[in-house]
Amino acid sequence: MFNSFRKTLISWYLDHNRVLPWSKTKDPYSIWLREVILQQTRVEQGASYYQKFLNHYPTIIDLANSTLDEVYKDWEGLGYYSRARNLLTTAQIVRDKYNGVFPVDYLEILSLKGIGEYTAAAIASFAYDQPYSVLDGNVFRVLSRFFGIEHPIDTTIGKKSFKKLAQDCLDINQPAMYNQAIIDFGAVICKPKLPLCTNCPFSSECVAYNEGKISELPVKSKKIIKQNRYFNFLVFSKQNKIYIQQRQEKDIWQHLFQFPLIESPNQVLTLEDLPDDIIDFVPYIRESKMFFQTLTHRKIHAKFFEVESLDYDAKKDWILVEIRDLNKYGFPKIIKDYLSEKYNFIY
Ligand code: ADE
Repeated sequence: MFNSFRKTLISWYLDHNRVLPWSKTKDPYSIWLREVILQQTRVEQGASYYQKFLNHYPTIIDLANSTLDEVYKDWEGLGYYSRARNLLTTAQIVRDKYNGVFPVDYLEILSLKGIGEYTAAAIASFAYDQPYSVLDGNVFRVLSRFFGIEHPIDTTIGKKSFKKLAQDCLDINQPAMYNQAIIDFGAVICKPKLPLCTNCPFSSECVAYNEGKISELPVKSKKIIKQNRYFNFLVFSKQNKIYIQQRQEKDIWQHLFQFPLIESPNQVLTLEDLPDDIIDFVPYIRESKMFFQTLTHRKIHAKFFEVESLDYDAKKDWILVEIRDLNKYGFPKIIKDYLSEKYNFIY
């Protein structure tokens, strides 16, 4: 069973030619970068970030010697910013503890910041051909459907059983190729929605396909409930200057920049709801259209209130910057969207 699964998978992989923006590199640093970027990001979006990081930081030492604001700026738009923070920390650990050479041992790789079992297995197999199977969303999907497994993938027991199954399926003679094959197969054929079952080499054996359960697998026990957040940004600008602020709280987008913010509980504000000191002291306020951004656990609703004045009692943490320098700061995507509409910034 496992033998025929891996054989069919590898022969599918050798036949199809998904062009990925990386060659079959064996360099652990580029593999680590790529896998961290692709953890929550699709290849189409991640590819340009991968190139940007390799250009900006050709070696792990270059990355280790940069600053957090620099890395955040390069990460801008990718989301899950703890990944950027962990990249820098791990680069510094590799520089300081491992003399700049990426560790080879799986457990040592796993001990690095921001590297979980998926990324450790990816690095160990892709860079060093060690027999560790990767288990990501693609692999859960392919295995749960092919074997018809209904254990929820977000419970400890479910994860454990999939981990064992993934390892049983692995082709230990060519782990790098096998892992790349199952990831690609999940992305190209066994897709979450509208999988290409009629072109699938497994269709005669796939339990989910033959039992009509494709849309039910994989099973998740919890449904993510999204919390709505309502952000009212104050855009104070005059001539070529504008106020921005750095997010400090332990919350989404920590350390990224934004415009001074008023968060409201149930909906965005209207002009009349703005605090009196703003209404009374500024000459003219323009409201933007609504902007939206969906994160894993939140939906952000935002409006930008534009004030053409700097004659306002700026708060301590407001920073006055040149408008043309805005693209030097890392902003959340919703603000980038606003800026690219308003100032035609191209990021
Ligand atoms: N997603 C995560 N890792 C990947 C890889 N190595 N190739 C394609 N997609 C991926």
